[in-house]
This record gives sequence, C-alpha cells and structure tokens, in this order.
Amino acid sequence: MLLRSTGLRVLANPRVARAEAYSCNGRGEVLNLSAFEQAKREITSWPGYHPTPLRRLPKLASAARIAEILYKDESGRFGTGSFKALGGAYAVLRVLQRHIFERAGVQASASDIASPRYADHASSVTVTAATDGNHGRSVAWGARTFGCRCVIYLPDSVSEGRIRAIEAYGAQVKRIPGTFDDAVRKAASDAAKHGWQVVPDTSSEGGLDVPRNVMQGYTLLIDEAASQCPALPSHVFVQAGVGGLAAAVCAYLWERYGTARPRLVVVEPEKADCFFRSARAGRPIPAEGALDTIMGGLACGEVSPLAWRILATGAHAFATIDDEAAADCMRLLAAGRCGDDPIVAGESAVGGLAALLQACADTTARGSLRLSHESRVLVFGTEGATDPETYRAIVGRGPADVILSRGAA
Ligand SMILES: Cc1ncc(COP(=O)(O)O)c(C=O)c1O
Repeated sequence: MLLRSTGLRVLANPRVARAEAYSCNGRGEVLNLSAFEQAKREITSWPGYHPTPLRRLPKLASAARIAEILYKDESGRFGTGSFKALGGAYAVLRVLQRHIFERAGVQASASDIASPRYADHASSVTVTAATDGNHGRSVAWGARTFGCRCVIYLPDSVSEGRIRAIEAYGAQVKRIPGTFDDAVRKAASDAAKHGWQVVPDTSSEGGLDVPRNVMQGYTLLIDEAASQCPALPSHVFVQAGVGGLAAAVCAYLWERYGTARPRLVVVEPEKADCFFRSARAGRPIPAEGALDTIMGGLACGEVSPLAWRILATGAHAFATIDDEAAADCMRLLAAGRCGDDPIVAGESAVGGLAALLQACADTTARGSLRLSHESRVLVFGTEGATDPETYRAIVGRGPADVILSRGAA
C-alpha cells in the first residue's frame, strides 16, 4: 500500500450532468472561456510569468496500477509558493482597473497601473481579505505589485511562518479568534466601516464579481495543464476549500471538452467536508466542528455558492481524506519513494494525489471512480512548502534538502 491511512470516503455524484451543455443553468455567467481569455492576456503579461511544470510520475503510477500520474507543480508560481497567486492578485488588478476607470475614464492595463502614472489612484485604494494563508499572500502580493494598500485577516490558528510571509509584502495582518469563516465575517464588517474593497475567494459574503475574477484567474492553471498534457486525461483529482479552484477546473473542462471531459473528483479533508455533505444532500450544507485539519488551505466550513453552482452537477465524485493520508503523501513525494524525482508539496497540495493513491488501492473506490490500468490522471500540487517550519515538522527535512536530493533518489 502506498499510503498507510485507509480513511478515504468516496461519493459518486448522483446529480452529475452527463449530456447537458456547460452554459445551461447560468453557469456560463459564472465562468466562461471568453472572460478567461482576458484573464490569460493580463496574467501572462505580468513580470515573472511562466507556466509551472507538469511533472510525470511514472513509477508512482505503476505502483498505483494506472497508466499515468501528471502532477502540476505550483510551488514556483510567481515566487509566492502557490497557485493562489493567479486568483487573488488578478482580482486586485481588476478592482484597481475599475477604480481608475470610474475616476479617470481610462482602461488601464496591468503595466499602466504598476507604473508611476496611476500611482496616486492605486495608493488611494485599500484591499482586504480573509485567509488561511495562501489567498492573503496572493492579495498582498497583488497589492504590492499594483501599488495599493492591503489589510489581511487570519484565524489565530494560522502559523507565524504564514503571517510573516504576508507581512513581507507590506500588508497589515490582523489575527481573529475562531475559524476562517469568522475571519471572513470580520474582514467584511471592517471593510464596510472603512470603505475598503474586500477581495474574497468565496461568494458566501456579498458581491459576486470579485470571487468570479479570482476563479477566472485560477483557470490559467488548468489551461496551462491542458496544453502540457500529452493527451486529455481520463481523470482529474483536485482538492477543495471553498471550491474556487475545483470550479474553475470543472468549468474549463466542461465548456472546452463537453461530454468528453475527464472525470472530475473533488477532494476535501474529512474535517472540512462541506462539498461532500452538500453533494449528499443536494444543497449547500456546512461542515461541522472546529475544521482542525493540517490542510489549512482546505479548512473551510462553507462552500462558495458560485463554485457550488458549477460543481453540484459538474463533479463526477466527491471524496475526503484524513490528515494522516496528506502527511504521508507529502513524505512519499519528498522521498521520491517510488523512484520518481522528489517533490516539495505543502499540506494542502496533496489532497488530490492522496485520494487518488488511496482509491487505486481500494477495490470498491477504484471501481466506483472507474480507475483502471489505462487511467491517465491529472492532479494539482497546489503549493510548495508555504510554511517551511510546518513542512519540516511533517516531512522530517526542510524543502531545500528535498530539492537537493533530486537526482539522488
Ligand atoms: C494550497 C491550496 N490548495 C487548494 C486550495 C483550495 O482552493 P479553494 O479554496 O479555491 O477551493 C487552497 C485554498 O486556500 C490552497 O491554499
């Protein structure tokens, strides 16, 4: 067995749309490929942009008795350590573009806004967000790149390492007692008081435009992967917090490939299983408990309603894993245990891969997800060691040591 834990739960989605076109039921108003083209033009013009690598894991695939595992490695995304840089920062840019258009009647590009020409306009805006770490880092990085002010709210469980990483971009950080959802509420109420612009990655509070832009930015991840994959994968496993990433992946695949789209499996921590519960009930249902999982980026109690609109009928299955599976999967990747190159993956990066490996080893799950020796599976390694101290505590070595061991595995 590749992972020690056997805590996988799988739910085949009884409501999956098999024949319906993507744009039915208002989904095209949430995300669509033509709005994505604008996001793609903008983001690919930013300094430091390059597609992140798609890593092949042939030995791990053979150990799991499938044809291929393709791991989209987001650890190097814009130097922020996670895929989130695509969404929050893009939404910050759109906020500033709207602000400048309203004040000066000008359609400013990303490079216009980053230049001294619009510095006064940009610096008069304060953006704010609630975060477990990575979204706040992306918003803070976007604010610094485009010259506006930034205040980030974090639940007080977030580690010092993550806080320092956000402060390093010049953002003010506020720690809030309670969960991520408490931080979301506090950010919204302070923003209303001070006239700040909230940049949420979920649509559960207030307007839809900003979370839609966040998700539209994430779409670049699957667009890059689709052009890097040697053939259309049979399955895509993707981890979810509020579901923005999973919805972006789902919408893209559905609109672009229709009924031929890969089977999509949405994976959550068992202690933050709002999509799993919602899929079972057929309507949004919150997770219960303190959401105390090591997968901090996925520790969300409520689905983003916008994401739910797409995933409720777009996902083929939902799954949950426990913390032990995630930690074990991080160690497996770091050690290159099956003979592939070692990979640095953070706690929230491995949900999809861990669920895949567990499903491959379990006859019932393997059957219900239609995994076979012919399956070619795309997974998203959504972060590197975004909190190096936590990474070291789990893996037993720091990220630099793991990278140095490449070639020696
Ligand atoms: C590393 C990582 N992976 C996945 C996710 C899940 O993204 P979403 O909340 O859009 O579902 C997050 C969210 O913060 C994250 O930080």
